[in-house]
Amino acid sequence: MTDKAIQLLNNSQVVAIPTETVYGLAAKIDDEKALNQVFQIKERPFFDPLIVHTSSVEMTLPLVKDFNDIAKKLAQDFWPGPLTMVMDKSDQVNSIITAGLDRVGIRIPNHSLTIDLIKKLNCPLAAPSANKFKKTSPTKVAHVKDEFNDKVYVLDGGDCEVGIESTVVGIFESEVHIYRPGMITIEDLKKSLENRVAVKYHQSPVAPGQLEHHYMPKSPLTICDETFDYKKEDYSIWKLPNDPILVARDLYTKLRELDDNRPILFILNQSFKKEPKWDGILNRLKKAKTKDYFF
Ligand code: TXA
Ligand code: MG
Repeated sequence: MTDKAIQLLNNSQVVAIPTETVYGLAAKIDDEKALNQVFQIKERPFFDPLIVHTSSVEMTLPLVKDFNDIAKKLAQDFWPGPLTMVMDKSDQVNSIITAGLDRVGIRIPNHSLTIDLIKKLNCPLAAPSANKFKKTSPTKVAHVKDEFNDKVYVLDGGDCEVGIESTVVGIFESEVHIYRPGMITIEDLKKSLENRVAVKYHQSPVAPGQLEHHYMPKSPLTICDETFDYKKEDYSIWKLPNDPILVARDLYTKLRELDDNRPILFILNQSFKKEPKWDGILNRLKKAKTKDYFF
């Protein structure tokens, strides 16, 4: 399986790769033809930058101008894992990947098949989530196949364990800005940096992919808490578990599976809202919902 993926990638094809967060649609970072294919197949606008995946810090260093002490500490604590760090890029990073920005987002995914693949290629892979633009990210092989039919070879790494995309942070001299929340939380980051560095949320156009509407199912999605009065037969319903780790893992599968003819209803407990482990999940729900009686 890995051999086939290597062969295709070395022949300027794109390949869907497993990661612990969601499946990615990968191209070698030095292959302009394949990079352009990623945008084309995804129907993704060229202003939305791709994340670069490496297999080691050593492979990461030549891609950035400065891998500072903050980046070193976060890499030590969270790589391989669901944390993408955005840093000043070197000339080795094609500006197609960064959508013309002078900074690049990089992570080491925590999936042995993909780490092995990158090592064998001896080349980092640029990969956005393997879904069409604005659609829900895939966490199973079947999701990728639904999205692209047989147009794309999928390296089968089983179901994704984390289930929502990585936390994306901007690394600066003495600050960390969270552009996209995920399962590595603001608390995790603060703890790792021992409160010596300011860690804060930062919503701005520097993360151009952070559109308001995303992940939207075809049927209208309503989000409510347990006080909401509804008729069971009117909805496809998911009562979210109390454990955010389970919710994140199943979220995109539920968004797909419950998207039948009826409107979708997600019921969750308001008391979770303040726990940082829910930040990433609530961020996705806000983008996916049609209306809510929750936020
Ligand atoms: O977990 C993940 O991050 C998955 C797996 C495949 O690694 N990838 C993923 O990629 O979610 P994508 O392309 O769907 O989302 C990447 C987002 C961009 O939309 C943008 O918001 C942010 O990461 N990003 C990437 N590069 C950036 C940069 N140079 N500056 C600011 N934001 C960046
Ligand atoms: Mg995406």
